[in-house]
Amino acid sequence: VVLVSARGHYSVEKIARILGIGNHNVIKIPVDTENRIDIDRMRQVCAQIREQNERSDEKTKIIAIIGIAGTTETGNIDDLVELRRIADENDTFFHVDAAWGGALLIVDKYRHLFRGIDQADSVTFDAHKLMYSPLSMGMILFRNETALNYIKHTSNYIIRPDSVDQGRFTVEGSRPFSCLKPWVTFKIFGKEGFRILFDHAFDITETLRDIVTRHPDFEPMNVPDIFIFNYRYVPRKIQARLDALMLEIGDESDPYRLIKLLKKLRRINDALNDLTIELHRAVRQEDNSFVSRTMIESTRYSPQKIVVLRAVTINPLTTPEILKEIVDEQSALGARIYQSEFVDILEKL
Ligand SMILES: Cc1ncc(COP(=O)(O)O)c(C=O)c1O
Repeated sequence: VVLVSARGHYSVEKIARILGIGNHNVIKIPVDTENRIDIDRMRQVCAQIREQNERSDEKTKIIAIIGIAGTTETGNIDDLVELRRIADENDTFFHVDAAWGGALLIVDKYRHLFRGIDQADSVTFDAHKLMYSPLSMGMILFRNETALNYIKHTSNYIIRPDSVDQGRFTVEGSRPFSCLKPWVTFKIFGKEGFRILFDHAFDITETLRDIVTRHPDFEPMNVPDIFIFNYRYVPRKIQARLDALMLEIGDESDPYRLIKLLKKLRRINDALNDLTIELHRAVRQEDNSFVSRTMIESTRYSPQKIVVLRAVTINPLTTPEILKEIVDEQSALGARIYQSEFVDILEKL
């Protein structure tokens, strides 16, 4: 099995399927409300596997533990130091998926965010994400170069044992000179250029979070470490009802009444999920800005899955004024959709 958090990128299951491990053997460990892997749950799952192995003839091998350094949906970084420890306790391989966040390591002042990444057995990172290189330029680095021997291959007409041809250690055979892209990007921007880009990305992420948090008709849904912010349109009236309901749920001791309150909460969030999908469609239709959408369970309404708008705030040309305009447009569209399709449903609930 491979262990990764519920925020693991879909490519983990995809590759497990391709390798014949099967995506059912990718075990998704829950995350906390900050979207970081729940370390205690991870230890529990590993302990369960060890116990089962002692009792049964059919053994389960933990092939790898994966930590995420920049979750795709929420921009958070797992506790890599603890994950390394857990990998050692279980005598297994520790991979870090830094596809999204890894390029921040270029800038010294942001390296602390990735504490523990230097202890990984392998790390992926994508130049076509935070290195701002053209698609596609995924990379993987191995601690131990002999790990590459698993995919090493030679032939009589090319990549002979002593050759330096491309493709000696890759799944692809013939390959383009892809690393030209990050090399050029690095030459043009340099460390200082990346510092400017990342400082700006941190600033606009904070600005967007601030605009949304202060706006009475939006609900912020995550606190990112790096540049991905989730939120949804919730009219202030409905937000007040949600807040009151959450308090009631927290205080309710009668199980029967508690179930009724939870059902009500679920119905409100179901309607809000539909509203967010409609709003997302409307934003795409207007085509003045782009925001993506996803569905996560790690909000204050956990375990219910909540549809959120997912803003990736890395465009160096984005200004606070542009962000304000975008939120104003989304607010106007949200109000229109709410009035025309959801006011009856949501105010009756
Ligand atoms: C954390 C993470 N891992 C892996 C990937 C896969 O990246 P790609 O297919 O773009 O190389 C992504 C892309 O979004 C990602 O965010």
